[in-house]
Amino acid sequence: MTQDELKQAVARAAIEYIVDGEIIGVGTGSTANFFIDELGKVKHRIRGAVASSEATAVRLRAHGIAVLDLNEVQEMPVYIDGADEITASGAMIKGGGAALTREKIVASVARQFVCIADGSKLVGMLGKFPLPVEVIPMAHAVVSRKLAALGGTPVLRIKDGKPVVTDNGGAIIDVHGLQISDPVALEAEINNIVGVITNGLFARHGASVCLLGRPDGVEKLTFS
Ligand code: A5P
Repeated sequence: MTQDELKQAVARAAIEYIVDGEIIGVGTGSTANFFIDELGKVKHRIRGAVASSEATAVRLRAHGIAVLDLNEVQEMPVYIDGADEITASGAMIKGGGAALTREKIVASVARQFVCIADGSKLVGMLGKFPLPVEVIPMAHAVVSRKLAALGGTPVLRIKDGKPVVTDNGGAIIDVHGLQISDPVALEAEINNIVGVITNGLFARHGASVCLLGRPDGVEKLTFS
């Protein structure tokens, strides 16, 4: 099976988690895109969706799914999204697609976080995937120095020769070379650096469930 087929398999399996008549939170990235395509087939079952990025909102609308403003939504049963890395206890690195801040905000309103990922995303220790940190653009140099003091190698994310600008107007620093043995503590420590908007550790509130695509089927991990 290709990686895309594994992503499609978990996207299909995640449909089981939607709750009829309710609002669903929807993530960003290639695996979330497969999920949106599956959601389009059962859109009559939901009231609408809250998107974690402009790109996700565009794709949801293209399927005729109503996109709601998070400020109009008090709670939702489930948020469904991919991850760049996930541990066996449900802590994740996210933000490879630069949508980490809105992802964390939307996920915070959902009772359950269902992570959908191909099996390669399961790791023993977080940090091989560079940790994305969204920052206020004027602060990227000072924040980078503080991230370097934590032991990582910060690199400002560049695309087409220019610093990436997120949906929130932020910049992204990718921190290479971290070995994250205590993701809950590091998430809080980085969020405390002045100039940081959010970091891509989803550990304090990690996944509730992870559907992992394996060549022989979808493996389900449940976290307490
Ligand atoms: C987007 O900012 C990310 O958090 C994605 O959820 C993550 O990068 C996983 O993306 P893929 O599903 O494309 O691997």
